[in-house]
Amino acid sequence: MRLAVFASGEGSNFQSIVDAAKSGALKAQVVLCVSNNPSAGVLDRATKSEIPVLVLNPSEFSDPDGYTSSLRAKLIEFETDFIALAGYMKMIPAEIVNEYSDHIVNIHPALLPAFGGPGMYGRRVHQAVLESGADQSGATVHLVDEEYDTGPIVLQESVPVRPEDTPDSLAARVLKVEHRIYPRALALFEENRVKIDGRTVTILET
Ligand code: GRF
Repeated sequence: MRLAVFASGEGSNFQSIVDAAKSGALKAQVVLCVSNNPSAGVLDRATKSEIPVLVLNPSEFSDPDGYTSSLRAKLIEFETDFIALAGYMKMIPAEIVNEYSDHIVNIHPALLPAFGGPGMYGRRVHQAVLESGADQSGATVHLVDEEYDTGPIVLQESVPVRPEDTPDSLAARVLKVEHRIYPRALALFEENRVKIDGRTVTILET
């Protein structure tokens, strides 16, 4: 598996993937780190691990096709065969989503389909969970389609919501789960254990 990880922020999920690849728990090579944000923490992490970085801000392209073709050219150059979105704040061009169909996943910090969709990112997700009174939240790894957070679910794990939780305390509890399930989900793909039939995903037992 030759993996490109896309991230816009701190990059703790990126790190969990890199660490799993280094330890051998995930048989993959992280070949590229893509960010739209030149000051994202993830870029330092990538540099420390000697992983090539690509900073591309779609809003700096006058023509969206120019952005798509620059991104595509890099993915081809690095022979990327799988994409993991890890806190990436920009929409992936439809052409690339289609090209990597069933080979592109995202992690979301809630139990989708609840608390997903446009505007549901970062702290807002945890705030919405707390306001709803839900007693559980969690993390979801899902396939990426052309909408936000609607692709078929691959893995999910829940955490309790505690009465004293703030968005930050809940986010921290969910993030621990993210760091565990994202490398695991990628390993399932690498081991060819994810069977996709339309919108139905089945994990094959070993
Ligand atoms: C994570 O909570 C992820 O689920 C969401 O954005 C956050 C990114 O955190 N999509 P990090 O940059 O991986 O630390």
